[in-house]
Amino acid sequence: MKQKLVSASLLSADKIFIKEDMIKVIDNGVDFIHFDVMDGNFVNNVSFNDDTFIKIRKDSKVPFEIHLMVENPFAYIDNYEYSASDIIIVHLESFVSEEDLLVCLKRIKKHHKVGISIKPNTDCSKLDPYLELLDYILIMSVEPGFGGQKFIPASLEKIRYFAKKQDKYSYLIEVDGGINQNTAKECFDAGVDIVVSGSYLFKGDPSEKVKSLK
Ligand code: DX5
Ligand code: ZN
Repeated sequence: MKQKLVSASLLSADKIFIKEDMIKVIDNGVDFIHFDVMDGNFVNNVSFNDDTFIKIRKDSKVPFEIHLMVENPFAYIDNYEYSASDIIIVHLESFVSEEDLLVCLKRIKKHHKVGISIKPNTDCSKLDPYLELLDYILIMSVEPGFGGQKFIPASLEKIRYFAKKQDKYSYLIEVDGGINQNTAKECFDAGVDIVVSGSYLFKGDPSEKVKSLK
């Protein structure tokens, strides 16, 4: 039986009391903090900057996953503020060539765990050449850019695709977007290891929310 892990997406936390919101969900058992970075180009939105990261990172006892929704990941991966236990996730769609992506993954791997994310319309098999190098695969189950969207059911097939190959590799599978009590169950049943939750998790009693997701 797989562990059921939960990652809290800070995009839906209170913008002023972000540190307090973060500590609350950690105290209630989330396993990771999910930190979305957007450049306004790769997606039509912006999110957090370095100042926010520095303000809150030291108060988290669980690893951060840094989800880079940006056109040029190379400009973001050598950030010395990131802690050694943090996971850096780049989007496959940010890269123009296979070589560039490989260089980027290897550079991240020198200091961090590494993951690749794919958008809903990207074919799973495009990740096949990189599976050996990956610690995490992040399946986007909504179009990246905004919280509060509806889960795309075809994401379950993608989870199964990577779960089937998992015994040959060492990656964990994550899903991000539209996760609530029901979609989390469907994803865990399909073989996901980690569900990322934002709007569902940060509304209401965090202890009940974390329990219901797991
Ligand atoms: C969207 C972000 C997600 C977002 C998920 O592009 O990557 O992490 O916060 O939010 P919910 O859980 O509300 O779909
Ligand atoms: Zn995200």
